[in-house]
Amino acid sequence: MSKTTSEAAPAAATTQDSQALEVRDARTGRTYRMPIIEAGVEGDQAIRGMDLRQVKVNAGDFGLMSYDPAFMNTASCKSAITFIDGDKGILRYRGYPIEQLAEGATFLEVAWLLRNGELPAQAEYDKWVHDITFHTYVHENIKRFLEGFRYDAHPMSMLCSSVAALSSFYPEAKNIFDPEQRYVSIIRLLAKLPTIAAFCYRHIKGLPFIYPDNDLSYGENFLSMIARMSEPKYEANPVFVKALEVLFILHADHEQNCSTNAVRAVGSSHVDPFSAVAAGIAALYGPLHGGANEAVLRMIEEIGHPKNIPGFIEGVKGGKGQRLMGFGHRVYKSYDPRARIVKQLADQVFAEIGMDKDLEIAMELERIALSDDYFISRKLYPNVDFYTGLIYRSMAFPTDFFTVLFAVARTAGWLAQWEEMLLDKEQKIARPRQIYTGYGERPYTNTLTTKNPRTKKKDSLRR
Ligand code: CMC
Repeated sequence: MSKTTSEAAPAAATTQDSQALEVRDARTGRTYRMPIIEAGVEGDQAIRGMDLRQVKVNAGDFGLMSYDPAFMNTASCKSAITFIDGDKGILRYRGYPIEQLAEGATFLEVAWLLRNGELPAQAEYDKWVHDITFHTYVHENIKRFLEGFRYDAHPMSMLCSSVAALSSFYPEAKNIFDPEQRYVSIIRLLAKLPTIAAFCYRHIKGLPFIYPDNDLSYGENFLSMIARMSEPKYEANPVFVKALEVLFILHADHEQNCSTNAVRAVGSSHVDPFSAVAAGIAALYGPLHGGANEAVLRMIEEIGHPKNIPGFIEGVKGGKGQRLMGFGHRVYKSYDPRARIVKQLADQVFAEIGMDKDLEIAMELERIALSDDYFISRKLYPNVDFYTGLIYRSMAFPTDFFTVLFAVARTAGWLAQWEEMLLDKEQKIARPRQIYTGYGERPYTNTLTTKNPRTKKKDSLRR
């Protein structure tokens, strides 16, 4: 195990702490008191992981670590941005209930709120919207870069690499402790993500890229860049604009989820925010995270008909690796509050443009799963991704584009969390410990006859 004992000493446990955890080490008979920090306004309690390091058998020992694969019970930061009560199904951004924000706020208002902690005054909002609107264009080389992808490239791969590439266009973004630079990077990311996302879509469809229209709102402009053809001015369907706004608000942040943790961890190396956000997009791509919205649709298409649902559910319960996608959540152990809003939204969108052909399968899946003991006993309820795909598909977005829409919205949360991490004096480079389970030291022996094998010509032709 590569550990040094020269690191900062663990915080000394004070015996007068009334709020403390008392632990007796059965190996030595020694008792330790570890302060319980009550940092959370909602009653979250924790001990500092570093306090465990004083627990040793011999003075020269490294000290005790905690072992917590997948961070099941480890708080990696203090955060004032998003609050979730998973048992009660509560989600709030900066104290404001998600239901109220989805009802009354705009996505850019929420993006401001996430970053600044308060709702914007009119002048602040106007400047924010103006700055984002006038940074929507991307360098022409980004367009050429996107043209290099194959016609069937997954748009999440395209988005991830293009956002990473943006870092090379803005080398000054490395000055992450300059507030002005941070501001302009945040503006650029919020402004350019929809443009790049729309360009990815147009490339896959073989359609010409549509440049941003600064007369339109954030959502209208996005839909214009996606869908505009020969018309001089794109007029978006207001139901779609509203649906996109609400879905973006629901996806804007979700405290320490996999992709946010990736952005914070990568950002903790003090890399520029374009690179850190690209890491977040990579994490979001996975089917257990943001990629679930795509996976739900593929699952529903595979089921094909309500009559096939019981067989499918039996397969999931059979534990052969198939999961009911769009169900379950690490934190929510009752209904995901975002899923409730999405379901209502789906009703509004389908009332406008007709029922999605697979809605019946989704509703029947939900009904059966919610009455099945396998799902009830594991507290598996529909999550936000269960119905979003059906809405996006009815708006004519292709299935593999759903996670891109999630990424555009989550950028607001990633950036707020990234900046909070940077300004947090307690944070350092993210660097977990490990428990080494490999070999002890052993001598190297040569097992090869040649160190430089050449591929035979006929083998390489066969490739
Ligand atoms: N279908 C069937 N069984 C499930 C599912 C599911 N969707 N989710 C969890 N389980 C079972 C799992 O097999 C385990 O059973 P057992 O105790 O018998 O081994 C138990 O429930 C606990 O599961 P877990 O994997 O330990 O739970 P987790 O907290 O590590 O995973 C999750 C959370 C979201 C990754 C998982 O529920 C899942 O894979 N869901 C499907 C993918 C999905 O919808 N993801 C989107 C999440 S919401 C959007 C976002 O924020 O990313």
